[in-house]
Amino acid sequence: VIQVFLCALDFCIDRDVLLRELAPEERQRAQRFRRSRDRDRWVASRLFLRRCLANALATTPDKITLLTGINGKPHLTGTCGAPALRFNLSHSGSRAILALSDAAEVGIDIEFARHFPDMLRVANRVFTAGERAQLGNSANPDFARRFYQVWTCKEAVIKATGEGMAADLQAIEIDLQDDGQPRLIRYDGIPGELHLQQLLAGDGYVAALASQATARTMTPVKVTKLEPASI
Ligand SMILES: CC(C)(COP(=O)(O)OP(=O)(O)OC[C@H]1O[C@@H](n2cnc3c(N)ncnc32)[C@H](O)[C@@H]1OP(=O)(O)O)[C@@H](O)C(=O)NCCC(=O)NCCS
Repeated sequence: VIQVFLCALDFCIDRDVLLRELAPEERQRAQRFRRSRDRDRWVASRLFLRRCLANALATTPDKITLLTGINGKPHLTGTCGAPALRFNLSHSGSRAILALSDAAEVGIDIEFARHFPDMLRVANRVFTAGERAQLGNSANPDFARRFYQVWTCKEAVIKATGEGMAADLQAIEIDLQDDGQPRLIRYDGIPGELHLQQLLAGDGYVAALASQATARTMTPVKVTKLEPASI
């Protein structure tokens, strides 16, 4: 089963909560942010992550030990090497989104779909010719939405495999398809199959989920919005 939770990050955090629920290295990382808004949002995303994991594992946030893989993918400890719960987190602007899975590896990405002047240049660098063809003309109002749909799908893929920055983005090809359900049509050297789903994030955000679940187990995943008070 895959669950996806979405949370708005602009909420007040009590200093006691921060001391109680975050690990010392997280509190140190929080101090390295230059802008207080970025720091507060990052701290909120960590609390959101820890509380959701704790809830799923019937424990408390301070008991969650987060380990980091070779390319930086965080994971939980597990018995016999395999964690009982897999997860992936993404944050952008004032939103964080989290995928939890009891079986397959997952990768998730959220982006605020803002238009920026260099979009075409960035698309030429990170998208394949096939992907660029799906974006249409840069003057078209759909260009930015499609740009972020391809972007979030590609990010979700490299986050599911855990490669992150080490991935060759040109080796991955996404087909947005007309029915709104994107498909991974090429990923050179990928282990196993990956399934993609565009998620409804609202408020100008675009999000995608990639999962190593088989087609049979990959039923459409609904996004559960959590209010800060309920996390
Ligand atoms: C981690 C990465 C994959 C995504 O970063 P991002 O989009 O800036 O940030 P997101 O909020 O979506 O994800 C960050 C979270 O992913 C997780 N993460 C970190 N490394 C990861 C990895 N290798 N695999 C999966 N998840 C990872 C962490 O939980 C991290 O949260 P934290 O920063 O609070 O610790 C990073 O490698 C990156 O910046 N890649 C950019 C590659 C690129 O150029 N993409 C173009 C789009 S096609």
